[in-house]
Amino acid sequence: MPSLDQALRAALDARQPLLAELHTQGTDCYRLFHGSQEGASGLTADRYGAQLLVQSFHQPLERDDLLALHATINQHLGDELLLVYNDRSQGNSRIDRSDPVYQAEPAALDDLVGHEWGLNYRVRGRHPGQDPLLFLDLRNARGWVKAHSAGRAVLNLFAYTCGVGLCAAAGGAREVVNLDFAEGNLAVGRENGALNPTLPTMQFIQSDYFPAIRQLAGLPITARRGHKLPHYPRLAARQFDLVFLDPPAWAKSAFGTVDLLRDYQSLLKPAILATAANGTLICCNNLAKVALADWRDQVLRCAEKLGRPVRDCQVLAPAADFPSQDGQPPLKTLILQF
Ligand SMILES: C[S@@+](CC[C@H](N)C(=O)[O-])C[C@H]1O[C@@H](n2cnc3c(N)ncnc32)[C@H](O)[C@@H]1O
Repeated sequence: MPSLDQALRAALDARQPLLAELHTQGTDCYRLFHGSQEGASGLTADRYGAQLLVQSFHQPLERDDLLALHATINQHLGDELLLVYNDRSQGNSRIDRSDPVYQAEPAALDDLVGHEWGLNYRVRGRHPGQDPLLFLDLRNARGWVKAHSAGRAVLNLFAYTCGVGLCAAAGGAREVVNLDFAEGNLAVGRENGALNPTLPTMQFIQSDYFPAIRQLAGLPITARRGHKLPHYPRLAARQFDLVFLDPPAWAKSAFGTVDLLRDYQSLLKPAILATAANGTLICCNNLAKVALADWRDQVLRCAEKLGRPVRDCQVLAPAADFPSQDGQPPLKTLILQF
């Protein structure tokens, strides 16, 4: 087993060409160390603009190792990144030791701005949610959306902080609708919009996915026998030219269960129906244990059964900052052309 230092140096060397390319395209948010594939399982180091976010998922990182990692990365990038270390190895532990190295300097916890594809994104080292405000493995998909949104009506489902919507707006979409049930996430989406004041404004719908997409798709919303449904915003049936479907692995609400392993269909079916004829649906599955080939077959079959056969299906892989030794990255993305 190489030491952490050796593994980190190898990872940084391997990224040299990618980082040069990303810097030219206006991106300073990327993964510098993807431990599960690069020699330290459960450890990640991500750059978000001026911030270096280190996260541990299996066991906490010792103080000296953390400081050495920070120093090596700074030296490699020729920069002084602000360190934030979030230990996620014990439930929600978020190391809170008295040592200032673990606490992070106030400047590192300020509201910062990161850049991707020339756009500005809100960066916060710690906030009420666990995950960073921008998922870096989705960068290539956001880039695709930016390059293919001109003149199109775009629907961003499970929008989180609306990075995909922002790319659609930057790519010249005639309309961008972001949908998520968490007002806090949409609030960051609004901040992201405000951080890019030259872009046209986006729309935000705070709603559970199931009633919203079923209404857009023109499908009925039914309550389970004996159960009254909570309030949901009323929407008119309509279709979009480009629909982006990137759900979490699992989530339960009063309206249904998001379950990427057992039931992708109930998410996909209404999303297909809300996609216009000749439109595009981009769908994702981030569960590592779901194999791309099986999931793609399932997706294509579902479209076929709905009488909406797919004309073209393209697989979009994450960039090289998310290496995968077996060529099976957890995040799988399909671009379906109808
Ligand atoms: C993994 S994130 C999606 C990432 C996002 N597509 C992006 O571009 O970064 C999951 C999001 O789904 C939202 N969510 C989970 N269950 C939902 C539901 N039933 N209805 C609406 N939003 C939901 C969460 O609030 C969260 O913002």
